[in-house]
Amino acid sequence: MEEKRFYISTPIYYPSAKAHIGHALTTVLSDAMVRYKKMRGFETFFLTGMDEHGQKVARAAKEAGKTPQAHVDEMAEMWSGLWKSLLIENDDFIRTTQQRHIDAVQEIFRRIYDKGDIYLSEYEGWYCTPCETFFTERQLAEGKLCPDCGRPVELVKEEAYFFKMSKYQDPLLEYMERRPDFIQPPSRRNEMINFVKSGLEDLSISRTTFDWGIPVPVNSKHVIYVWFDALSNYLTALGWGTAEDRNYQKFWPCDIHLVGKDIVRFHTVIWPAMLLSADIPLPKQVFGHGWVLLDSGKMSKSKGNVVDPVVLIDKYGPEAIRYFLLREIPSGADGYYAEISLAQRINTDLANDFGNLVSRSVAMAEKYFGGKAPAPGSEEEPDRELRELASEVVREAAGFMDKMDFSGALAAIFRLIGRANKYIDETMPWQLAKDPGKQARLGTVLYYLLEVVRESALLLSPATPLVPAKVWAQIGVDPERNKSWDDLKWGGVQPGAPVRKGENLFPRIELSSLEA
Ligand code: ME8
Repeated sequence: MEEKRFYISTPIYYPSAKAHIGHALTTVLSDAMVRYKKMRGFETFFLTGMDEHGQKVARAAKEAGKTPQAHVDEMAEMWSGLWKSLLIENDDFIRTTQQRHIDAVQEIFRRIYDKGDIYLSEYEGWYCTPCETFFTERQLAEGKLCPDCGRPVELVKEEAYFFKMSKYQDPLLEYMERRPDFIQPPSRRNEMINFVKSGLEDLSISRTTFDWGIPVPVNSKHVIYVWFDALSNYLTALGWGTAEDRNYQKFWPCDIHLVGKDIVRFHTVIWPAMLLSADIPLPKQVFGHGWVLLDSGKMSKSKGNVVDPVVLIDKYGPEAIRYFLLREIPSGADGYYAEISLAQRINTDLANDFGNLVSRSVAMAEKYFGGKAPAPGSEEEPDRELRELASEVVREAAGFMDKMDFSGALAAIFRLIGRANKYIDETMPWQLAKDPGKQARLGTVLYYLLEVVRESALLLSPATPLVPAKVWAQIGVDPERNKSWDDLKWGGVQPGAPVRKGENLFPRIELSSLEA
């Protein structure tokens, strides 16, 4: 029997003083995926955390007049608070300054060293501190700039340990070619295959000019390169290499490392090469999502156009932000954020289409049937069409969510919601209510509407996890019998259940207060 276990990770974040909406995309996508997998009966493990070592962090702490540890402690609190307020339900929050991580990273280093894949030499080349990446002169952009972020690089010359990455070029290519799912979406896979084919060089994996890092176990003058340290978090959080490795046994290899497209290379080349050397199985998939862009281009501190998710959560609530990111940023591609489009999504999708469907259906059932869900009678053509569409959309949404395409899934779900609103206009329950002979017909129509309300709330729950409880309170369904994907079978509303209108789920936003 297939083991129903699912492990997903986000990257661990740099402890920068401000998170932005782009960072939130990675965690929200992972969280939605985990919630979906739980609905499908999977035992899940969802990891996020902080990447706290390296030159960049040491410098930021210095600028803030703090010790690196005090600086990262403060940032870790802020970031984990942000995730809570976005309703992110991670199972662990790994920090690379934790002893459990330090010990295990040294153990990985030792393993690779003992294998003969690490040697001491001298590194001479360029280093981009914001990206924490080494570059050869040939790789630099014009004007000696970082080819990834466009900022100035520094010339570095120091004794360093090297990892024999070149040795793993062929096994890596073989894995990438044999496992088409390993790198998703396919465009990133082709890019990485070409990158590996163009030749892998050995990688410098230690630094000596600062000490904010994990000491190299065989030479304490060196600290381990921050990416070698950081990538290992996916294993160290599971207790790998310790007596307490239950989670490692259960969840490794990871099902999905979800990362932004800028760091796909680290996750599909350096990380698997390290694992091959350490004789640890490779992750099943690395999924590279796109950028959240602004009309003015990419968000950056220097441009002063960073969109703060904390401000948005306070103003619009976490569910609206989650919904927007999942709906608006196409799977694996770039998408745009603007406050006006967020507000329009809230008004059009959440307040008008979904919110109105719920409030109209519940209000009519309450009014015409004395606060009790009616029983359905015989099914007529528009009813059948609505019911069949519901089961089609459940199937379709699952297909999209399986591929982590929430934009596609939400579009499908809103097709059902839109159809149900049209069904109200077509069946005109308020007219039926005027005719005592149409009572049975009215009951069928309202039952079908309440059922679509129930299914939509459940279908939307990976994106808007607070919605179901609010809807269940209005349509009197048992929360325990309305949480799994199997509960999406038609007929979950119980005739006679108490129906009572509640507050508006998503209040409308006054658009005139926002700039276009
Ligand atoms: O890269 N749109 O950390 P990080 C979408 N510490 N995603 C974005 C984005 C944007 N505008 N800006 C950033 C690191 N991201 C390393 C990871 S993992 C072993 C170490 C994404 O804080 C970015 O692509 O710079 C990455 O997936 C995540 O935010 C963390 O970025």
